Amino acid sequence: MTKKNLGAVLALYPSPVVVIGAMVDGKPSWTLAAHAGTVAHSHLMISLVQAHYINKGIRETGKLSFNVVDESWLKEADRMGTISGLKTDKSDAFAWTMGEHGAPIIDCAKVSLECEVDQNIELEHFDNFICRILATWAAEDILNEQGKISYDLFKPVLFEFPTYEYYVTGEKAGTCGKMNQ
Ligand SMILES: Cc1cc2nc3c(=O)[nH]c(=O)nc-3n(C[C@H](O)[C@H](O)[C@H](O)COP(=O)(O)O)c2cc1C
Repeated sequence: MTKKNLGAVLALYPSPVVVIGAMVDGKPSWTLAAHAGTVAHSHLMISLVQAHYINKGIRETGKLSFNVVDESWLKEADRMGTISGLKTDKSDAFAWTMGEHGAPIIDCAKVSLECEVDQNIELEHFDNFICRILATWAAEDILNEQGKISYDLFKPVLFEFPTYEYYVTGEKAGTCGKMNQ
């Protein structure tokens, strides 16, 4: 195999894309983000440009939701990445419900995580919010018999650099720890 060094590029993509929700000045606002990930077993990280409108609400309330996007509402989610609350009021973009811990949750999202900010690691004009997971809201029709999220039923949308395209998760490729039996 011949390999070429592409330089310092974001090649860990594709990754799930989420709509972050937070209350800003008493109203919900929504921002599409894909720089998101898992930190420890209890926390998520979301990396948001400090100039974004939603950062103010996250900084002030310390509460936010991660709404995992699937194809059924991709179009609406995509719009949250093209308009800013700095210019357009996004509070009525989705039907929503206030979570138990003070973060707004999108009703059509089949999986939403309600979180509180534990730390903010500021880096290169990004707020990197390290968020403790407080609650996970999942639609009953995507749960398996054990009550866990089934990724045969729920297909998160993935986003990738550099072409800015969306994919969906696909077929099961194997069972962890049982690939050599
Ligand atoms: C697919 C996609 C992924 C995005 N991911 C991020 C991200 O991870 N971090 C970020 O700061 N902005 C990201 N953006 C840009 C913001 O969603 C966009 O600038 C938005 O308008 C900011 O809204 P706000 O100012 O209301 O917070 C992404 C946009 C798209 C289309």
